Amino acid sequence: MFKPRSILGANGLKKDEIVTILDTADTFKEISTRPIKKVPTLRGRTIINLFFEPSTRTRTSFEIAGKRLSADVINISGSTSSTVKGENLIDTAQNLEAMNPDILVIRHSQSGAAEMISRNIQCPVINAGDGFHEHPTQALLDLQTIRETKGSLEGLKVAIVGDIAHSRVVRSNIYAMKAMGMEVRLVGPPTMIPVEIQKLGVSVDYYLEKAIQDVDVIMMLRIQTERQNRYLLSSLREYSNLFCLTSKILEKAKDDVLIIHPGPVNRGVEIALDVMESERSLILNQVTNGVAVRMALMYLLLGGSDDSVN
Ligand code: CP
Repeated sequence: MFKPRSILGANGLKKDEIVTILDTADTFKEISTRPIKKVPTLRGRTIINLFFEPSTRTRTSFEIAGKRLSADVINISGSTSSTVKGENLIDTAQNLEAMNPDILVIRHSQSGAAEMISRNIQCPVINAGDGFHEHPTQALLDLQTIRETKGSLEGLKVAIVGDIAHSRVVRSNIYAMKAMGMEVRLVGPPTMIPVEIQKLGVSVDYYLEKAIQDVDVIMMLRIQTERQNRYLLSSLREYSNLFCLTSKILEKAKDDVLIIHPGPVNRGVEIALDVMESERSLILNQVTNGVAVRMALMYLLLGGSDDSVN
C-alpha cells in the first residue's frame, strides 16, 4: 500500500502511486452520495487546515473530506492566527504540532512553504497550494475527473490555456499528467509562458484556435492578477479576444473534448458563460471529486486499513 509521509507536490509521484490515489478516491466517492455521509475511518484523528490565502473550494473540500471520515477538523486562517502578531510560520506550525494533530493542511502564498513546514515538524503535511509552485490535490482531482469520463489517461492530449507562469495548478498537472503518459500543450500569451518550460516535456502554442483542435481535454485558467508583479497584458479585453474559450472557438475542437477549470472562474474573461455551462464542462464534477481525492489522501497518509472504509 502506498503510504506517503506527506503530500508536498505532484513532482515525484509515480504512475502506480497516482493510480492508487485515484482508485482509493473512487471507493470514497460513493460515501458522499449516502444520506448519512460519514464513515468511522479517521475517528479520533485531528486534521488542522491552516490557510493563509483565500479559498472556496480547497478549504471547504478538505474540511468536508475530514468530517466525512469522522476526523476532528480545525480551520485556522492566516488573518486569525498569531502570525499577524509577528510569529513566524515555522513557530506557528510547531505550536500547532504541539497539540498533536494527525495531518496539517497548509495553503500559503509563498512557494516552498509546505515543504519548509514539513522539514520542521513530524506531522504529515498536505500542500493545499503554495505560491506558484504546486497544488497537488488539484492536479489529482483533475486527473480523477478526466479518468472517470474518458476511462483512462494514457495517451490523452491536454491543452492548458492561460496564465501559465503564475499557475501552481499547471505545474502540478504537468508532473502528474506526464507521469500518467499524457501529452501536455501549454497555450497563452508569450509573456505568460515561462522560458524553457518545454524542458518539463510539454509543448507550447500561442494560438488558441489552433492549439485545441486535436486535444481530448481543455483546461482553462484564470489570470492571476494577485500574483503578477509586472504588467503582462495590455488589457483584459485584449486577453479575452485572444484566449477566451467561446462556443465559436470550440467548434474547432473534437466533439467529445472535455473542458475543465480549477476555479475560481472569471466568467467572460477566460471562458464564455455558455461554454462553462455546456455539457462538455466538468467544472463542478472537479469540485465533487475534490472531496473524494482529499479523503483518499487523508486515508493513505494515516495508513488506514481497508475494512475501516465502511
Ligand atoms: N482550485 C482552487 O484552489 O480553488 P480555491 O482557491 O477556491 O481553493
